[in-house]
Amino acid sequence: MNNKELIKIAIEAMNHSYSPYSDFKVGAALLTTSGNVFTGCNIENASFSPTNCAERTAFYKAISEGERGFSKIAVVGGINGNLTDYTFPCGVCRQVMIEFCNEDFLVIIAKSEDEYIEHKLSELLPHSFTSSDLGGEL
Ligand code: THU
Repeated sequence: MNNKELIKIAIEAMNHSYSPYSDFKVGAALLTTSGNVFTGCNIENASFSPTNCAERTAFYKAISEGERGFSKIAVVGGINGNLTDYTFPCGVCRQVMIEFCNEDFLVIIAKSEDEYIEHKLSELLPHSFTSSDLGGEL
């Protein structure tokens, strides 16, 4: 699947955003190495801290369905869903990504299907803390 198609799916997913507290809508589309796409939106809460970002929604949906290999994710977002700026994944989402992805995993941050920037996860989260720091053998 190309970037343009993945961004289109992320924009559609953004429409499901539950964000009555911030009015900041985010959508994500995650492509697995098996060729499946999992979508996510941000889901807010009156108690604030249970809020889940769009990226993590997509990852947790995929992981709970048994997926373990990931190629790339497209992310879009903005106030009231207006894609005027690039929405970069927050630090917590970057940490979740590095748990399940290698450093070549691609993060596509888009304003539209044609206007996007692309970063490797290693650029967004250098010097990461992973299972290898705990002596793991993943
Ligand atoms: N948010 C995301 O869903 N992803 C990001 O990468 C940044 C922030 C959400 C969380 C919250 O619902 C809203 O945007 C404002 O922070």
